[in-house]
Amino acid sequence: MRILSVVGARPNFMKIAPLVSELGQHTEFQHFLVHTGQHYDDQLSGNFFSQLGLPLPDVNLEVGSASHAVQTAEVMKRIEPVLADYKPAVVVVVGDVNSTLAAALVAVKMGIAVAHIEAGLRSFDHAMPEEINRRLTDAISDSLFVSEQSGVHNLLREGAPPGKIFLVGNVMIDCLLRHRELAAKSDVLRKIGAHQDGGGRSDYGVLTLHRPSNVDDRVVLIGILEAIREIARDFPVFFPVHPRTRKNIETFGLSGMLSGPANKPASGIVALEPLGYLDFLALSDGARIVFTDSGGIQEETTVLGVPCLTLRENTERPATIEHGTNQLVGGDPVKIVSAARRALAGDRRIERRPPLWDGHAAERIVAALRTLLID
Ligand code: UD1
Repeated sequence: MRILSVVGARPNFMKIAPLVSELGQHTEFQHFLVHTGQHYDDQLSGNFFSQLGLPLPDVNLEVGSASHAVQTAEVMKRIEPVLADYKPAVVVVVGDVNSTLAAALVAVKMGIAVAHIEAGLRSFDHAMPEEINRRLTDAISDSLFVSEQSGVHNLLREGAPPGKIFLVGNVMIDCLLRHRELAAKSDVLRKIGAHQDGGGRSDYGVLTLHRPSNVDDRVVLIGILEAIREIARDFPVFFPVHPRTRKNIETFGLSGMLSGPANKPASGIVALEPLGYLDFLALSDGARIVFTDSGGIQEETTVLGVPCLTLRENTERPATIEHGTNQLVGGDPVKIVSAARRALAGDRRIERRPPLWDGHAAERIVAALRTLLID
């Protein structure tokens, strides 16, 4: 039974790794991996394959960067002959990037079953390209593997047949739990000069920013960086900078708001190159506070028990607020500073996981695929 999985961008790799490893335990499945090439830099792609133990892709479509329309269309054009050639029984897509939607749309029109991992998440914000990708992918998928209860409600409300919906837990958390010990051996904290006292308590924050709504508008970006600089008066906030964000910081003339790690500064926003999976996990695991506009980092900080301030007005992952450490603070500098002060004054919260975020989601997915395809 042939299963073909499609990945394209950084957050896809840690979601597919546990599934690839689980499928490897089942001889009844033959697995193929297609990389669309949406992300192509070693820092956003190759690095993750080696650290996560992913096999090299069987096919790389090398679509690269382009407008949404061109990128999505290129994936569609280039994946069609691959699916015709490999003839999988099911195409597995993960998350909400352009590659996810493009691959699902081609597969379903070729009569190939589509399984969507991380189905049902909704921000209800149509200005987010990912929200469009999620809704459309779910609408055409045959199996909807959901990471948190809100996803089940959303899908049922949209009329998805209950028989297609499987609440299986979170594959990204499978990946985190599997790699946490290894990440603890990373020397990234020493390299960048992140301070830890004798008791292993950390004294630094972490910032990630890449959403167009936060980084494509100069005024919004300045407001966020100013707020974080205010918080970073007493300790450094490490900022692995996404290529989109770096380009905009340079274009907007904002490089002076950041410093580099070379002198191991004790305060301010310290810009770093994008980090590999293990280094970023080590960095966030030791942080006092994380500021982010990423989806996955809201989930990871929940499991790590690190306070997370999400620089967005909404989240498609409400379980991270209900069960975890996440708070929505949006992009208003005053709100960011006051929420950060409150979070820093409180205790580090106890690690509490949403139901089924237990490291076994991939097993549940493979068991369900087995039932659907073979039994
Ligand atoms: C994409 C996903 C987003 C995900 C993010 C993680 C979509 C709609 N967006 O956004 O959901 O959270 O990945 O990073 O699919 N670039 C490089 N090197 C690369 C890839 C991109 O320098 O390897 C630069 C290019 O200038 C490119 C820009 O980053 O134009 C944006 O890349 P793109 O893949 O279009 O979207 P992301 O912002 O990375």
